[in-house]
Amino acid sequence: MRTVTEAVLADRSRWDVAERQKVRALFDELSATWTEDRIGNDARLLPISDGLERGVVNTGRCLDLGAGTGLGTEVLSEHFREVVSADLSLAMLANSVIDVNRVQADGATLPFRDDAFDCVALVNMMLFPEEVDRILAPAGAVLWVSSRGDQTPIYLSDVAVGEALPGSWHGVASAAGSGSWCVLRRDRDVSRPDPSRRL
Ligand SMILES: C[S@@+](CC[C@H](N)C(=O)[O-])C[C@H]1O[C@@H](n2cnc3c(N)ncnc32)[C@H](O)[C@@H]1O
Repeated sequence: MRTVTEAVLADRSRWDVAERQKVRALFDELSATWTEDRIGNDARLLPISDGLERGVVNTGRCLDLGAGTGLGTEVLSEHFREVVSADLSLAMLANSVIDVNRVQADGATLPFRDDAFDCVALVNMMLFPEEVDRILAPAGAVLWVSSRGDQTPIYLSDVAVGEALPGSWHGVASAAGSGSWCVLRRDRDVSRPDPSRRL
């Protein structure tokens, strides 16, 4: 998954039908034991709550993209007014430990309107930067979490994430529990007008 994550970030055409099917089939298969293999491992989830707190993320509407069985969604739900889970694998969503709105979707082509979320959380997830940018509100934050730091199979460094997102971004990053997190925000949105200023 590390190779796929890096290859797709470098060249989006690598995320074709065959690759998508392969990744979906892998996680469909892993879904049966995903929760029982990880439940109770609080160190794995600590980067999420620490990132939300120290990254000073507001409490609006959050998309948990690549939510899996919702282990991280539970933590996000304690912070946000509303959380939506999205995942490529229907089997992962079907085994969810939390009852939130769940959507089977590909992070490369998300079924959400522009600026729909105040936060996009990606916990051990691949990055499709253009879609994250599109659905994130102008003043929104990206929460990027790697539960095992640079040992996480689906991993990109905070610098790589910041550089891949369209435009110019700044953020904070740290480590907590067994993993790492970063919270990124746009420097200034010059390409898309602030909706509050529209006539
Ligand atoms: C390593 S798991 C992480 C699950 C959960 N966030 C956690 O940490 O327990 C990665 C998840 O991302 C999902 N995923 C992979 N590629 C995706 C894509 N293109 N769009 C949406 N979800 C995707 C997989 O189905 C899987 O559930």
